[in-house]
Parts: sequence; structure tokens; C-alpha cells
Amino acid sequence: MNLSHLPLAIDFDYVRDWLGVVRWLHVMAAIMWVGITAYFVLVDNALEPPDAEGRADGIEGQRYWLHGGGFYFMRRYDTGPKELPPNVAWHPQTYAYTTWVSGFALLIIVYYWKAGTYLVDPNVADISAGVAVLISVAVLALGWLVYDGISRLLAGREALLGVILVIIIIASAFGLSHVYGSRGMVIQLGALLGTWMAGNVLLVFQPAHRRQYAAKQNHTKMDPVWVHRSRQRGAHNTFLALPVLFAMLGIHFSFVSGSPHAWQGLIIIMLVGAALRYFFVRRQQGRVLWAIPVGALAVCVALALWLAPPSAPQAPALAKAGATDGSSQTPGDGAAVAAGRRVFATAGCGSCHTLADAHSSGTVGPNLDQVKLAPQLVVQRVTDGIGAMPSFKSQLSPQEIQSVADYVASVAGH
Ligand code: HEC
Repeated sequence: MNLSHLPLAIDFDYVRDWLGVVRWLHVMAAIMWVGITAYFVLVDNALEPPDAEGRADGIEGQRYWLHGGGFYFMRRYDTGPKELPPNVAWHPQTYAYTTWVSGFALLIIVYYWKAGTYLVDPNVADISAGVAVLISVAVLALGWLVYDGISRLLAGREALLGVILVIIIIASAFGLSHVYGSRGMVIQLGALLGTWMAGNVLLVFQPAHRRQYAAKQNHTKMDPVWVHRSRQRGAHNTFLALPVLFAMLGIHFSFVSGSPHAWQGLIIIMLVGAALRYFFVRRQQGRVLWAIPVGALAVCVALALWLAPPSAPQAPALAKAGATDGSSQTPGDGAAVAAGRRVFATAGCGSCHTLADAHSSGTVGPNLDQVKLAPQLVVQRVTDGIGAMPSFKSQLSPQEIQSVADYVASVAGH
């Protein structure tokens, strides 16, 4: 019996690609989570004090909103209206849990499954894939315990706590950069902070809401410790959202995550993100602090100059040289490019990498059209190898490596 038409030999890489579709759910749930939370911050900031009668009813603030062709009337009561109304709608927390669970699933599918390629970088630390995964899980679990413990300990000293948390985040980035390749470091830091945010929902906001509801039912007041703790963690989540988002998108910013100063660059952008969030919160409260976005822009420009690869200007120069080469049809098709293209083809880069100019569609390594690296970085990757990518030191001469690097840098994304 011939069964060769049946997919008996499962292509696990193909299966992994499809499992990766959970990313869609992850992004959707994250948008809902961050969106709803940001919406309540916005509402809170826009509330106006009620009249004397409203105050007597326990109203803290209120405001009409125009949306979707109708007027909405938003009111905030700190301890709830006098009588517990039926059918109170609870803040939906499932989006936070869905975000975390789908995010952890992605961590398994993308990073743990191929930990040897995506987490381990032997040039950083020669650890096994299993150890890399264990460290990752331990960092998430211990990270939460440390964060939660310190936040409880320093309750009421919020400024000091903020400084200590920033130091912990910096130390984590530094430590992770000595354990994983830069990609692994970036995603692991994002996962750590995302776990803080989701942990706050599960272990602080949700229990606080339950306590508040029960207090109202029993005509008592909620324990002030919980009032304070939810405020504290609410502020943390507000400022963590933008930094975490940058880390999650980090592999698309290879000029940061692939640079020799990846962890420092990541931290600086995270701080810029938190500052921008502060700008928006203050703007909603009616104060526009232009110094923040202007300063943020200045910091980003300074960072860009610092991270600029020394040989970056070579790529356009090379492409221009190609364009003026009379024999070529397409821009960037000079003799140097042709030589690099030959090396790319003969060294077998295309079997692992997609590069439109070389008509290659390998998927073992990153898509080189998408990552768009500076030649100097390509030289380093090809010379030393990284993760599952072999070193070509013994196979290609330094000239050939330079040539293939200039080629990749000049044609990527065209
Ligand atoms: C056996 C498969 C394989 C071959 C052959 C291969 N690579 Fe790679 N390459 C990889 C993998 C896998 C990575 C990602 C490693 C990591 O990030 O951990 C990578 C990473 C890279 C990177 C860094 C991308 C980034 O975002 O940091 C560059 C540049 C690169 N390869 C260029 C080349 C060139 C040029 C060649 C040919 C000389 C080549 N590769 C051959 C598998 C391969």
C-alpha cells in the first residue's frame, strides 16, 4: 500500500509556523488590555468635581462623554454609591490573562522550541538549550517575587521604589545580556516586565476588586492597604506598557537589538517610553509638558548617533557606485555588488536566509530583507557565527566576507 501522499512525516517547522499564529491572539488581547486600562486612565483624568449635592452622594468626579453618536455619563465614586447596585460590571481582566498566556505560549513556540538558535549565543555564554530555557522560566518566576516583595516593602515611598525598580530593570538587562544573544535578551526583558504587569492584575487588582465589592456588601470599608496597593500597581502598569511594547517589537529594531550596545540602547528607549507615557497622562490632566517629547527626541537622536555602525555610510555609497556603473541595468548592480552576490550564492547563505535580490527564500535564519543590518554587523555575524548560524571564518576570506556583507547591506529590502 502506498501511503506516500499522506503527510506521515510531519514537518515540525511548518507546524511551528502555524502555532505562531497565536501571535495574532496575543496582539489582539494586548490591545484590549492596554486599551481598556488607558481608557480608564483617560476618564479618570478628565473627571470634573460634582456639585454639593453630588459630593454629598459620595461622587468624586463626573463628566459627559460624546462617543458613537450618543452621550455617556461617567461618574466615579470612591467607595461606591450608597446602596450596592445590582449588576455591577467588573473591569474585564481576561484580556490581561489572555495576553500573558498567549505570550508565554509564543515564548515556548518561538524561543524555547529553538532555544539553541534564538536564545543561546555561544559568543555570549556557551550554555545548552535546556539551561537557557530553565534560566528564562526562573527569571520570570523570581522576577515577580522580587518585584512584588520590594513593592510591598516600600509601599508609601513611591519615588524611592520607582528608582529601585529602574535599577532592577537595568541590572536585569545587563545580566541577561551576559546569558543570551541580544534577541533573547530583549524578549526576555519584555517577558519579565510583562509578567509584572499581568501579575499585578491577577494578584492585586482582581483581589482588590473582590474586597471592595465585599466591603460594599457588608457596609464596611476596604482595607486601606489594598486601596494603596492597587493605586501603586496601577501607576507601575501605566508606565511599563510602552517600554514592554518596545521590547516585544524589539527584533524589528535590529539597529538597537543587534547593535553592540543592545542592552543599554533598550534601557534608554524604555526610559523614553515611560517619559512619553507621563507626558500623555499630564496632558490629559490639562498640563502640556513639551520639554518631555522634545527631550525624548533629543535622546533618540543621541542614541542613534551612538549606535550608528562606523561603516554604515558605505552601503549607499556602494549602491551609488553601482548605479553609475554603465554596464548595469538596476541600481546597486556594480562589480562589487556582483562579487558579493556570488559569495552569497556559493557560500549557501540563501539556504537559511530570505533575500529578494538573491532570489533566496530560506527560513532557518532571519529574513535579511527585513532586518537590514549595517555591513559591519554582517561581517561580524558571518565571521563568528551566531546561534545556529555557522562561522564562515575558515570557509571565506576576509575580503569575501566584507564583500558579501557590503552586498547584503546594500540590497536588503530592495
Ligand atoms: C545553517 C543556516 C545558515 C546559513 C548557511 C547562514 N546563516 Fe545567517 N543566520 C542563521 C541563523 C539561524 C541566524 C540567527 C541567529 C540568531 O540570531 O541567534 C543567522 C543570522 C544572520 C545574521 C544576523 C541577523 C540579525 O538579525 O542579527 C546575518 C547578517 C546573517 N545571518 C547573514 C548570513 C550570510 C551573509 C550568510 C552566508 C555567508 C549566512 N548568514 C549563512 C542561519 C544561517
